[in-house]
Amino acid sequence: MTVRDWISFWDSDHPIYVNARHFDVHYREIASDIIRLIASPGAKLLDHGCGEALHADRIAAKCGGLFLCEAAPAVRARVAERFRSEDKIRVLSPEDVEKLPDACLDLVVANSLAQYLKQDQLKALLQTWKRVLKPKGSIVIADVIGHEQSAAADAFALLRFAARNGFLIAAFFGLVRTVFSDYRKIRAQLGFTQYSEDEMLSLLHAAGFIGMRMPRNFGHNQNRMAFLAEKS
Ligand SMILES: C[S@@+](CC[C@H](N)C(=O)[O-])C[C@H]1O[C@@H](n2cnc3c(N)ncnc32)[C@H](O)[C@@H]1O
Repeated sequence: MTVRDWISFWDSDHPIYVNARHFDVHYREIASDIIRLIASPGAKLLDHGCGEALHADRIAAKCGGLFLCEAAPAVRARVAERFRSEDKIRVLSPEDVEKLPDACLDLVVANSLAQYLKQDQLKALLQTWKRVLKPKGSIVIADVIGHEQSAAADAFALLRFAARNGFLIAAFFGLVRTVFSDYRKIRAQLGFTQYSEDEMLSLLHAAGFIGMRMPRNFGHNQNRMAFLAEKS
């Protein structure tokens, strides 16, 4: 597999989900994590870097409106098709997000996005999110990878998640496949952007937010971090 950047990786037929069960429970858990943050039934949300957003309809049922932003064109087209009859969901490109009016959102969530962006790209997004957030709105940046992260810790977290959700054997073989797949090469070539807790809090502060680390990360990998921030 030849990929120029992470967006073309996510747009390709990649090996990240080991089977349909993994795909389903991953997105179910992320949807539950987002639902827990919805402060009122009228709240307007943006899930930036939503991926396949398989259970976004569950989120939409609990809020006033849900924007799903995805940069990878094929993923975005699938998400738009999946939710074409959901009145409360609108699927956007990153360029569409730039055209949203000021102060229209209560919550912006970006799960497992920061590591795929250069720090300057995240800084630019923080300014966009600040503009589109209402004065009391919040952002959540989750699944942030610290400097001390290891592939082994990620693998164990996946195996524990798989054991809890009935796909342990598939996860084991999926991990073996990953070791021998191009994913490792791509990961080495493209790299992740990693942040310590202090670095992320400083970045948020410099962008005009007051942030805190949340007690739990989104999803299954508690070796990674989640941050909640409000406009200062
Ligand atoms: C690791 S996936 C996470 C998907 C989903 N949020 C989840 O929790 O499973 C990262 C997603 O972010 C998308 N992405 C990367 N850069 C982006 C950007 N600048 N704007 C919007 N989406 C982006 C990728 O195409 C990919 O689908």
